[in-house]
Amino acid sequence: MMRLIDLRSDTVTKPTDEMRKAMATAEVGDDVFGEDPSVNLLQEKMAGLLGKEAALFVASGTMGNLVSILTHTHPADEVILEANSHPFHYEAASAAAYAGVQFFPILGNRGILTDTEIAKAIRPDDPHFPKTRLICLENTHNRGGGKIYPLEEIQKIRALADANGIAMHLDGARLFNATVATGIPPADYCKPFDSISVCLSKGLGCPVGSVIAGSKEWIKAAHQNRKRLGGGMRQVGILAAAGIYALDHHMDRLAEDHRRAKELADAISQIPLFEFTPSAVETNIIVLPIHDPETSPEEVVERLKSEGVLVVPFGPGEIRLVTHIGIDDKDVARTIEVFQKLFGE
Ligand SMILES: Cc1ncc(COP(=O)(O)O)c(C=O)c1O
Repeated sequence: MMRLIDLRSDTVTKPTDEMRKAMATAEVGDDVFGEDPSVNLLQEKMAGLLGKEAALFVASGTMGNLVSILTHTHPADEVILEANSHPFHYEAASAAAYAGVQFFPILGNRGILTDTEIAKAIRPDDPHFPKTRLICLENTHNRGGGKIYPLEEIQKIRALADANGIAMHLDGARLFNATVATGIPPADYCKPFDSISVCLSKGLGCPVGSVIAGSKEWIKAAHQNRKRLGGGMRQVGILAAAGIYALDHHMDRLAEDHRRAKELADAISQIPLFEFTPSAVETNIIVLPIHDPETSPEEVVERLKSEGVLVVPFGPGEIRLVTHIGIDDKDVARTIEVFQKLFGE
C-alpha cells in the first residue's frame, strides 16, 4: 500500500512508542481534587518554562483561548486581535457565545500587528464605546504561514497596553516553534503577556491537550472558568504524562521540522505554478500560492492525494503544508518528487 505523507497539519501526529510508554506508566490521581501528580508536574514545569507563577492543563487550544478570554474580560468588553487569528476564524465565535465579548479584528501583515495599528483601535473612555480590555496576539501565526512575531514589536505593544490598562494574551499554540527558531527563551517571549496558551498537540506531538499560564491569582480564576465549561477532568495524568515527555524530548527536534519545511519551500518555489519567496518560511508551515486562476486549491489537493501526499486548501488560491514529527527526510524527498512530476514543466 502507498505510504501517505500527511502534511495537512502538525495536529495529525500520533504518539511515539516512548510517549505511549510514559502515558501507560503515568502516576495518576483525581485532578478535580488537585491530586494528579502528573498534571501537577506538567503545570509546574510549564509555568517555570514560560516564566509565570502558575499553569493549568486544558483540553485544547480552543479551550485555552476561551478560558483565557473569559478570565480577562466582562460581557460587552472588546478584544483587539488580528483578522486572521485563530480565535477570530476557527473557534466558532466561542468568545461571543460564552464570554459575551466583541472582537475588534485588524488585518495585519502575515498576522503581525504593530503598536501603531493597535493604538488606533483602542476605544476612548466614553459611554458610547465598549471597553477595550484585552489584546490577543498569535505566535507563530498559523494563517500567516508560521510567521514569527518579532519580540521587539510585542514589547512595543506591551508598552501601549500598559499605558491604557489593557491585558495581553498570547495564543502560543506554536510558541515553541518561535522559540526554537529564534533561540529566544520561552520566558522572554512570554514576559510581555499576562497569559499564554500553548498547545501540546501540535509540534510537540502529544495526542491531546494545552496548558495556559499566568499569575497565581489569574490561574485560580481561570480554573473556575475551566470548571464552568466542563473542563475538569479526573485521572488526566495519562495525558499530562505525554506533555511532560514532549517537553523533555520533542522540543529541540522542532528545528528538524523547520529545516524540512525550508527544503520543501526551496524546491517547490522553483515550480512556476507555486513560485514564492522561500525565505518567507520561518518555521514549520508553508502556505503556497497557486498562480493559475483555472487551477483550484481543491484540484491541487486531489492531484497530490492521488500520489499519496496530503495537504489542505487554505483559502482562495492557496494550499498549506505543515511539517511535524511524522515527516522524515524521505517524505520530503518524495513530496518534492511528486510536486515536480505533477506540476513541474
Ligand atoms: C494558532 C492556533 N491556536 C489555537 C488552535 C486551537 O487548538 P485546538 O485544535 O487544540 O483547539 C490552533 C489549532 O490549530 C491554532 O493553530
